[in-house]
Amino acid sequence: MAGLLAGKACIVTGGSRGIGRSIVELFAREGARVWYFSRSEAEGAAELAAAAAAGGGSVERQACDVSSEAEVEAAIEAVIKASGGLDIVVNNAGITRDGLVFRMSLEDWEAVMRTNLTSAFLVCRAAARHMIKRRTGSIINVSSVVGIMGNGGQTNYSASKAGLIGFTKSLAREVSSRGVRVNALAPGFIDTSMTDKIPEEAKEKLKTGIPLGRTGSPEEVAKAALFLASDLSSYITGEILKVDGGMGM
Ligand SMILES: NC(=O)c1ccc[n+]([C@@H]2O[C@H](COP(=O)([O-])OP(=O)(O)OC[C@H]3O[C@@H](n4cnc5c(N)ncnc54)[C@H](O)[C@@H]3O)[C@@H](O)[C@H]2O)c1
Repeated sequence: MAGLLAGKACIVTGGSRGIGRSIVELFAREGARVWYFSRSEAEGAAELAAAAAAGGGSVERQACDVSSEAEVEAAIEAVIKASGGLDIVVNNAGITRDGLVFRMSLEDWEAVMRTNLTSAFLVCRAAARHMIKRRTGSIINVSSVVGIMGNGGQTNYSASKAGLIGFTKSLAREVSSRGVRVNALAPGFIDTSMTDKIPEEAKEKLKTGIPLGRTGSPEEVAKAALFLASDLSSYITGEILKVDGGMGM
């Protein structure tokens, strides 16, 4: 049986580990030709190759620092040339530089904004230009539930993720009439290296605020990304889909 993304050309930024890595693997398993943008090789190359072989897809790394305008432009152009036509983009790359606002340096504020928000603008500007000409495409921006709820100690991160929500809805209004859907995911507390650093005691406390009573896995976020990337969501655009065990309701 053909996969949900059979033959589709996809870009996943920050695909070397965590949520991005799981999206790369699931999309390849569903038959997609995936180019992941990263500054390093992905974890578990053997599993990625197996996923691609099983699903009839492929996985390739495209070196790209998403905070660099020149690198993003060059990387998108390279993928468009190699693929013959880009269908799906997942803006997943992100960082945290946590701290209380009155102690936060301008550098930490700007680094988070540039990596989490400006990168999505750069990627979407280059990709959407191409997609609207083909009158097809699906763009997924990985926001966060803290972009909706806020979180003490994360003013920079929450602002970047709230910005992504406004960006997603505005871009959806610009390009949906030309066949390009734009949506966002808002994950809650997902087990990755980003949340590894939270002390065990604080994690247990956080879990009490999650109706499903547990943290999520990168694979559970990847399944939601697959839904938004595929034709299963063909009548959905400008939507912010929470994947958070009920944390943000
Ligand atoms: N883990 C969570 O609980 C959680 C919750 C909500 C949202 N998110 C978001 O999900 C996305 C993935 O996070 P994760 O939890 O997998 O974290 P992670 O730290 O494991 O992965 C982040 C990825 O982004 C890449 N990256 C960072 N800066 C980059 C740059 N300048 N250029 C290219 N790649 C870059 C990293 O190399 C890594 O592959 C992020 O946008 C994050 O904000 C995570």
